[in-house]
Amino acid sequence: MGDKEIKKQAVAKAAIDYIEYDDIVGVGTGSTVNYFIDYLKPLKNKISGAVASSIITQKKLEALGIRVLDLNEVSEIPIYIDGADEVNPYFQLIKGGGGALTREKIVASASKKFICIVDESKLVNTLGKFPLPLEVIPMSRSFVAREIVKYNGMPVWREEFVTDNKNIIIDINNLDISEPIKTEKDLSQIPGVLTVGLFANRGADEVLVSNKDGVYKMEKANK
Ligand code: 5RP
Repeated sequence: MGDKEIKKQAVAKAAIDYIEYDDIVGVGTGSTVNYFIDYLKPLKNKISGAVASSIITQKKLEALGIRVLDLNEVSEIPIYIDGADEVNPYFQLIKGGGGALTREKIVASASKKFICIVDESKLVNTLGKFPLPLEVIPMSRSFVAREIVKYNGMPVWREEFVTDNKNIIIDINNLDISEPIKTEKDLSQIPGVLTVGLFANRGADEVLVSNKDGVYKMEKANK
């Protein structure tokens, strides 16, 4: 296993300490979260169940015998564990590298506490080096792309990719995200955009980071 995988595994393991008896656990999507799901398996009879943020996560949970609950059956999720593509010092995130941003945003928003688990390569001062994913209704693809150009971003259609919600992804390169909350709000208002992969308005509550020395809890910067 490479260094990066070891770091992902370590931070996923650390997140298990946050799970309490009887919890309903919101579960994100991605390679880091996949390790978390493996560590969750021995707790499957201690938790009330899991709410999945993607079909792939749902399948993995079910394959390990972890009870998956429909979000509509649940009034509040005490804890949500998910990775990210970028994390800034204010715990604002870019997510959606795996294309699961819409369900991730829904489950994160329905959760009381969002613990983000990343290896140190995801930490940035300013968001935006990682192309910002948008989930877009297929018929609006060209229109949304033209609108993005007005924000000086370079839209790239993630061809051949269809989301769990049967939509498409446009990744925005070179976008200035110096004001993440404003950018999240502005782009969300473009007709045809279902979800912006910026988790700025509702960022993470805690960020666990792994580096070569182990796992630490990140300090949140003051604005
Ligand atoms: C999926 C996501 C993931 O959380 C993000 O892409 C990080 O994934 P990984 O842990 O594989 O690096 O937002 O939509």
